[in-house]
Amino acid sequence: MIRNAWYVAGFSAEFAPDSITGQVITGRPVVLWRTRQGRAVALDARCAHKRFPLWEGRLLAGDVLECAYHGFAYDPSGKCVAIPALHETGQHIPRTARQRAFPVAEQDGVVWLWPGDAEPASHPPRTVEIGSDGWDTINTEPMEVAANARLLIENLFDLTHFYPLHAGNIGSLADARVPVEIERGRRDGLPYLKTVRRRHSFTLPPMTRDRFGLEVADQLQEHTMVGPGLFHVVVTVAPPGRLGTGDEQGFVLYQSITPRDESSHVWRRSTSCRSGTTWAASPGKSLVEAIVAGAPTVIEQDRWAIEQQQKMFGYPDDDYREVHIKTDGAVVMARHLLDEMEAAEGTAGPAQVRSQRSRQSSDAR
Ligand code: FES
Ligand SMILES: [Fe+2]
Repeated sequence: MIRNAWYVAGFSAEFAPDSITGQVITGRPVVLWRTRQGRAVALDARCAHKRFPLWEGRLLAGDVLECAYHGFAYDPSGKCVAIPALHETGQHIPRTARQRAFPVAEQDGVVWLWPGDAEPASHPPRTVEIGSDGWDTINTEPMEVAANARLLIENLFDLTHFYPLHAGNIGSLADARVPVEIERGRRDGLPYLKTVRRRHSFTLPPMTRDRFGLEVADQLQEHTMVGPGLFHVVVTVAPPGRLGTGDEQGFVLYQSITPRDESSHVWRRSTSCRSGTTWAASPGKSLVEAIVAGAPTVIEQDRWAIEQQQKMFGYPDDDYREVHIKTDGAVVMARHLLDEMEAAEGTAGPAQVRSQRSRQSSDAR
């Protein structure tokens, strides 16, 4: 599990004034709230006194969070500023009564948290469409997925599962055969891995046809993992030969993957279309509404698939080995990249998952 990374703690709207949020991110319990000035802050959620979860506490004047058990109270820096039981003269708040504060950054409508031990080496990735007036955006509720975060990352890089998993909605057998261009690099201090798929005069699957009102189209589809915590998808569709002419339609999808622990994560999605774009099948409705309305079936299929995979990691490998084919190239590269990030901070996962994944990766080189 990679800790030295920015992870989405939530969309900005998930952090209302005067509310306290508790989460577990990469195995670390954190409590988040907003100061009176609106700044989002995060502390280790285990009270320094007796580990009571601070997310059960309450906010007092002066941006202070009071533990619900014995009332130790902490300021946004994590310093303990009050202990009710210290009533005798001469008693002092111990210097060790201090909560660890985690770096938090809020930008483009997203609250990011850095759970790692190293200092952040970069800013979080940009998600400019979210919260921009030029785009219609719909954010989903956070979804808990009972699977290692890597399984979602692999799912998002892999379109060969469009048949059969998504056959009948967004998928077709032809998707599994589209050539993939793969690019790896660093941008703004963050590692990324990108796949590009170009389809020409492609017969669109039912859901896509319905969204864009085209039977046959050219389609450009870009999937980029930025750091381990964000997936950026751009889909552009146009009548054959019309990509790049202003006749395009499309959407931008951000998917965040925030590990809770080795066998679960939180998945958020934010979908954006250019403001005012309407749905081909129902011009009174916005395109982004149409896209999001069709998404739950697809999401549940993906969640079901990766949760089933996760269960199978519960059995010993014995002589089990995965087989990779050429179209698994992006998944294999994603594993290399994630393995490197884990190795760099020495946070490899449970031995069973690790040893198997390493073996797969080296076999597929
Ligand atoms: S456990 Fe928090 S004040 Fe005692
Ligand atoms: Fe899928």
